Amino acid sequence: MKYKHIVISQFGGPENLLLVEDDLREPGPNEVRVKALSAGVSFADILMRQGVHPESWNLGRTPFTPGWDIVGVVDKLGNKVSSWHIGQIVTALPVVGGYSEYIFMSSNDLVAVPIGLDPADVVSLVLNYVTAYQMLHRCAHIKSGESILINGGAAGGVGTALLQLGKLVNLDKMFGTASAEKHGIVSDLGGIPIDYKSVDLDQEIIKLTSHNDNEPGVDAVFDGIGGKSFKSSYEILRSGGRLVAYGGTPTADLGDWLMMFTMNVVSDKKKFILYSIQTLKRLNPAWFHEDLVLLLDLLKQGKIKPIIGAKMPLDDAAKAHELLANGSVKGKIVLICND
Ligand SMILES: NC(=O)c1ccc[n+]([C@@H]2O[C@H](COP(=O)([O-])OP(=O)(O)OC[C@H]3O[C@@H](n4cnc5c(N)ncnc54)[C@H](OP(=O)(O)O)[C@@H]3O)[C@@H](O)[C@H]2O)c1
Repeated sequence: MKYKHIVISQFGGPENLLLVEDDLREPGPNEVRVKALSAGVSFADILMRQGVHPESWNLGRTPFTPGWDIVGVVDKLGNKVSSWHIGQIVTALPVVGGYSEYIFMSSNDLVAVPIGLDPADVVSLVLNYVTAYQMLHRCAHIKSGESILINGGAAGGVGTALLQLGKLVNLDKMFGTASAEKHGIVSDLGGIPIDYKSVDLDQEIIKLTSHNDNEPGVDAVFDGIGGKSFKSSYEILRSGGRLVAYGGTPTADLGDWLMMFTMNVVSDKKKFILYSIQTLKRLNPAWFHEDLVLLLDLLKQGKIKPIIGAKMPLDDAAKAHELLANGSVKGKIVLICND
């Protein structure tokens, strides 16, 4: 039997995303073959395609099939797998391999999906919401009544997840930078949008937080931009504040990261934390599992609702990358891998 998947033929632009057909193999003894329903398209996929993401360095070669997160149906079990059954709906963070009709996963890497959830909603939780949840709760240890800033992409995938999850904690204020045309998304989710293109961010935050007895500034910043923005994100923290850095390109940001670590060492009042979902998952897989299960429950209860910008067929992966890169789709782009 044949199956279709996307491969990145060489590092570079979206034209290197090719649809290919291969023979479908049997699962190995500890593997589960999953028939994919949906795969998320993320900024991290674009960085992988360009060969500038640490995971693409780990891989160190092309061709490979991109795709960080998937939802699918258990299709066939390896002969040593007893923890899953055929037909069960599952989700996972494979990091590579998601843009495919079928994917092979270690049985330990799957998480069961409650019945009745839309696969597009579920796949949107795996990378973006786990990232947002772990940054809020495992890195910044955010508390009710605190104020946060999402610096970069507050209307984007991780940004909207931060806003929805931040609202559940009853934060005092949630500021978020976004392009002016996306401000409605930020305010609809309870955030205070800031147009980073027309104001000085540091001065704006000081102005917006200076009206009461509190020290001006915010208690936590989630920085999805990296580079030069680290410094201003750090400066607008109150004492006791936490800066969680999660975006940017490692090659471009090396000097700025080193500077932040140095500042972190010399300051006992503020903390700089570098977050990576895949590193934390490797160090502590139980947390990833626990947090995703909690998020699936919040989705089931209707307490969170991912914003889906577009659902596209697997064949349109290159177009999906172009749309994501030019910012023209508001919300998560999801590939439909099998009808
Ligand atoms: N560390 C981790 O484990 C982890 C996990 C998930 C994602 N990420 C990273 O997080 C970042 C955001 O991911 P995402 O999926 O949320 O992306 P996204 O939905 O595409 O949001 C990115 C948005 O950021 C804004 N932006 C881009 N450049 C900017 C700049 N120089 N200054 C201010 N805003 C800028 C743009 O929004 P506007 O049009 O509103 O300006 C853009 O649409 C990416 O770098 C991704 O690789 C990291």
